[in-house]
Amino acid sequence: MIPSRVTLVEVGPRDGLQNEKEPVATAHKVALVQQLAEAGLREIEVTSFVSPKWVPQMADNSQVMAGIARRPGVRYSVLTPNMKGLEAALPTAPDEIVVFGAASEAFSQRNINCSIAESIQRFAPVVAAARAAGVKVRAAVSCALGCPYQGEVSADEVEHVVRLLKDIGVQHCGIADTIGVGTPRKAQQAMERALRHFALSEVSGHFHDTYGQALANIYACLEMGIDTFDASVAGLGGCPYAKGATGNVATEDVVFMLNGLGIETGVDLDRLVDAGAFISGQLGRAPVSRVARAVLAKRGKVLAS
Ligand code: HMG
Ligand code: MG
Repeated sequence: MIPSRVTLVEVGPRDGLQNEKEPVATAHKVALVQQLAEAGLREIEVTSFVSPKWVPQMADNSQVMAGIARRPGVRYSVLTPNMKGLEAALPTAPDEIVVFGAASEAFSQRNINCSIAESIQRFAPVVAAARAAGVKVRAAVSCALGCPYQGEVSADEVEHVVRLLKDIGVQHCGIADTIGVGTPRKAQQAMERALRHFALSEVSGHFHDTYGQALANIYACLEMGIDTFDASVAGLGGCPYAKGATGNVATEDVVFMLNGLGIETGVDLDRLVDAGAFISGQLGRAPVSRVARAVLAKRGKVLAS
């Protein structure tokens, strides 16, 4: 059942950098996206078209998209929570847009300022317009394994949103552990519900590594045949509306594990470590990724703690 090839969706430029307190120069964001593509990532979440009052760090969304020299074969995606976001995003020619809902009502309110039912109503015209424009549509289901406000989230709650997203024409469904509290069996149970509505190739895992469970959760999903995972270079990130949530699983860590399992990703680990070291250097800290730190130490680089 374990796939022989895995697609990694690099979310560092978006999920990672959205959480930075200090401004990150647009040129550095563009350079990061370029380096990630050069390292072999074929799916990159670049930015989000959300309210700059809510997430100031993504206010340069159009400039970042305009700055990227597109590489053939790379899918560049952006987050669009509503029609205003989509209308701003479409002129920048994204290959894919992402609508983001939640399995918990409380998180939906905090993150996108509306209920789950309202979010689906907002997404429906976004999905229709994107598809009419020939743009692929992915969705993220936040707090699928636990919520910072509600606590436990059931598989029934996950399936409820997944079904609504399928009904409005979403083509791919990401199951997200926003605060990294999920453990392997729980991850499998949520995935099993997603797979009732989406095909294996249309489901992905998005695991924040707050409690150090992300690689275990990915492995549990691999055992189910799931072959697409989000990851964030250098382990950047978190969610501004989930206090204490740390970054996604580091892409370097996932690539190292998959290399060890003999699973192809097309990603060059050394170049990926370079990209992570570049952006971490701009942010003034060492990469969070254990693998990146090990590789850099082996190269003789002295890291800040
Ligand atoms: P709202 O306030 O309910 O929206 O926000 P509104 O329609 O009432 O508009 C209010 C103001 O926002 C207006 O401006 C609009 O023009 C503006 P004003 O008249 O006050 O000057 N506005 C926008 N501006 C730019 N782009 C837009 C946009 N929409 C409205 N698209 C909204 C609703 C969703 C916009 C807001 O709640 C928001 O931006 N939230 C940010 C959510 C976010 O970015 N969260 C982080 C990403 S999700 C995530 O990290 C989770 C994920 O990684 C998976 C996981 O780990 O769980 C994906
Ligand atoms: Mg996230």
